[in-house]
Amino acid sequence: MYYSEIAGVGSYVPEKMVSNVDLEAFIDTTDQWITTRTGIAQRRISTGEKASQMAVKAAVKAIKHAAIPIEDIDLVILATITPDFFTPSTASLVQAELKLKNITSFDISAGCTGFIYGIQIADQFIKSGKSNCALVIGAEILSKVVNWQDRNTCVLFGDGAGAVILKRSNREGILYTYTGSSGDLEGLLTLPAIPLKNPFYIDNPISDQPSYIYMNGKEIFKFATNIMLQSIERVLKETKLTIADIDFIIPHQANFRIIDYVAKKIKAKTGQFYKNLDRFGNTSAASIPLALDEMVAKGMLQKGNRVIMVGFGGGLTWGSILFNWVR
Ligand code: UT7
Repeated sequence: MYYSEIAGVGSYVPEKMVSNVDLEAFIDTTDQWITTRTGIAQRRISTGEKASQMAVKAAVKAIKHAAIPIEDIDLVILATITPDFFTPSTASLVQAELKLKNITSFDISAGCTGFIYGIQIADQFIKSGKSNCALVIGAEILSKVVNWQDRNTCVLFGDGAGAVILKRSNREGILYTYTGSSGDLEGLLTLPAIPLKNPFYIDNPISDQPSYIYMNGKEIFKFATNIMLQSIERVLKETKLTIADIDFIIPHQANFRIIDYVAKKIKAKTGQFYKNLDRFGNTSAASIPLALDEMVAKGMLQKGNRVIMVGFGGGLTWGSILFNWVR
């Protein structure tokens, strides 16, 4: 039986910081509204970098942190809803840039839960003996798919990337993984792809509209609070642990009111849920590894700590991972 462990973490955000006050200059919003309704004060926005370029920067840091030879990596999984291309995959661009040879690389699309899905898949590759060392990345340039005239969404999102090295181990690092989806709720959070338009079907009234994120914020809020709670409870039940046995919970960073609601409901200790959305906004698939990397950089994780990562997002999707920090 093989186990997998998180051996290294890294992240990257663009230099350009955009504050709530900066947004006030061109949309009908206020710093006060954004801060009190979401907890977000600023976000990082790409001024030219692509998802693959940010992903490479996060990956290089994770590889250095893991102190592994780069050629050990035999699998690249990249979660994104904002790829550079439909094909090649952003994972393949990262694989090429890192000069990895003849390895498996692919993107996954599970919205903001993408990184959780990525860890689950990589963990299965390792446990089955198909992979020894995986690079799992969440990378997003959401600034290219938000409608900057739509105050309901554009104030919420930011750009960034986070990466982990997951490698085969004789220590039990990843303890439990869980994912789910409910495609019947897809209309609550959408980012349309290229609409059908060809010589045989030209009668599509929406075909020339740009592709933007649409979100029914209120419904997603309700969904998020319930599903985050359920996903954490599922981990605890399946592993016969209680919330008191968990050192930290790293939730998807969408809204501090969602996180605080779940923390209260589950009777978490103060500080048990980590939050950094005040500085980065919602970076979708990048949000959880970005938060994990920040916690590691701050020296918050001690060997033996039990950590739950929990996310939800477009799909709708959700999931949670319980791991031991074994470094
Ligand atoms: O990772 C993807 C998952 N996404 C999420 O988790 C998002 C979940 N949802 C939320 O976080 C919240 O629903 C939002 C932050 C999106 C919205 O907060 P809300 O408290 O649900 O506000 P609301 O949509 O009910 O809007 C309340 C008011 C409305 O005005 P009226 O109709 O009451 O006059 C909005 O037009 O706030 C207005 N509003 C704004 N005002 C200033 C909406 N956006 C803004 C804004 N600035 N940016």
